[in-house]
Amino acid sequence: MIQCLLSTVFRGRCGYPSDNKPFLRFSNHLESMKGIHILRSIMPKPFSENFLLRQLFDRESCTYTYLLADVKACEAILIDPVIELAERDANLVKDLGLNLKYAINTHMHADHITGTGKLKKLIPGCQSIISKAAGAKADIYVENKDEIKFGNFKLEVRSTPGHTNGCVSYVDHDQAVVFTGDTLLIRGCGRTDFQEGSPERLYNSVYQQIFSLPDHYTVYPAHDYKGFTASTVGEEKRYNPRLTKGKDEFTTIMNNLNLPYPKKIDESLPANKVCGLQDLPDHLKF
Ligand SMILES: [Fe+2]
Repeated sequence: MIQCLLSTVFRGRCGYPSDNKPFLRFSNHLESMKGIHILRSIMPKPFSENFLLRQLFDRESCTYTYLLADVKACEAILIDPVIELAERDANLVKDLGLNLKYAINTHMHADHITGTGKLKKLIPGCQSIISKAAGAKADIYVENKDEIKFGNFKLEVRSTPGHTNGCVSYVDHDQAVVFTGDTLLIRGCGRTDFQEGSPERLYNSVYQQIFSLPDHYTVYPAHDYKGFTASTVGEEKRYNPRLTKGKDEFTTIMNNLNLPYPKKIDESLPANKVCGLQDLPDHLKF
């Protein structure tokens, strides 16, 4: 794949008939090298043997749920499940012969009700996890630098406040992946105008905890509204239209987004405070 992309870059640059002047050749060569450098630095690395990652999608809230597993130990975790799709997720776990150890949230969501509470009922033994700073109920609370283990694999918890106070990102260094929640989205970021949001804190979180990771780490966000599925740290450092700005300009952009009030915030927040188990709207009671 790398070779294929690289040879395309070389063919595209060196094959021009007008490419006969030394200066043009040199400048084309530099451009090729830049392209190769970018591609090399952002190409994802293969996963470890026995590591499984499935990306699942909720069409209504555009939320990504991630199933991660050690297929040898048969232990799995889910990140950011959605209540309406908890049965889909539980069935997939069952179909794959996995045991769901944890249902985890990156933060207390305002746009959907978490599926963690329902998953705990569907799969007895599964425990819910959220950050201590989120202010929501769960079986286990995590803080910066904690580790979440499943089989032979683990996630490092990185505190990334800004979208909300309790936002965390989860990093698997062995697979070179980071689950960024709403802190960093593909060519965007989560809003900072409610739930104690702060553009300055979000900016610091991204630079200190996510952009400090190697460029080739794959970024898996909690949402995407344009059809992207993943990015890399290197790509976002170069091309994120908001986060390539300085902190002051970023803050001005975030403070002037004038976004509409989130559709489901009034039903989501009370339910998510209690792990999606109580205060459910009638159509979601189970
Ligand atoms: Fe959010």
